[in-house]
Amino acid sequence: MEIKKQIDHNHVPRHVAIIMDGNGRWAKQRGKERIYGHENGVKAVRETLEAAGELKIPYITMYAFSTENWNRPRKEIDTLMELLVNTIRNETKELCNKGIRLHAIGNLNSLPGKCFKELEEAIKLTENNDKLNLIVALSYSARWEIINAIKNILQDYKNNKTAFENIDNNVFKKYLSTGDVPDPDLLIRTSGELRISNFLLWQIAYSELYFTPVLWPDFNKKHFFEAIVEYQKRERRFGKTDDY
Ligand code: FPP
Repeated sequence: MEIKKQIDHNHVPRHVAIIMDGNGRWAKQRGKERIYGHENGVKAVRETLEAAGELKIPYITMYAFSTENWNRPRKEIDTLMELLVNTIRNETKELCNKGIRLHAIGNLNSLPGKCFKELEEAIKLTENNDKLNLIVALSYSARWEIINAIKNILQDYKNNKTAFENIDNNVFKKYLSTGDVPDPDLLIRTSGELRISNFLLWQIAYSELYFTPVLWPDFNKKHFFEAIVEYQKRERRFGKTDDY
């Protein structure tokens, strides 16, 4: 049976987070430079957004550049940033056609000025779109985000804007860069690596994890639908038991 037909459209995840991994290996297998893999990864981003749109999934978060990625060779960083700027610029119209609203999380001040500016413009241009929210994690790491949240809580505490007794899960969540966005129901990682790599550590406390050996540039709609079918087979108990 066609994979999409196996999906129960009434129980699709509200939020899917994705670690897009394997671009470098994909390029290496073809005797090319790593950036060739990143360039081909853009196609997989498009496929994923189309698939999510078809299933009416309201939130997709993509890990595009981690804090640790700044340690890569300068040439790869520069070319990747340029690719991100060009992709954002070229895709803004298409994002609007598809009703996709762009958001960004991470230490955005550390991005090159040009990249930050393009990003800000695209965020503004897509702000009225309401079909799907695309959250791009850029210069992001979960430990950075959690420390940042703690600093902001301490600042508010100092300014009498929050009380010690007020701090609970819900309040803390609002200090994270994902704010009111529902926690991911499903986390997908491509390329066969079985790691979380400092991504959304707080938010994925109860997410279902799905690992696929497919390298990111090869990831397509069918692979996304397969992940959703697998997700729908999981029994989510959130720490409770179903014995009663
Ligand atoms: C990981 O592969 C991938 C990245 C660090 C970059 C992902 C970026 C894109 C696909 C560009 C477009 C994205 C958006 C959302 C506009 P890797 O280099 O770690 O691969 P490897 O593990 O095989 O070396």
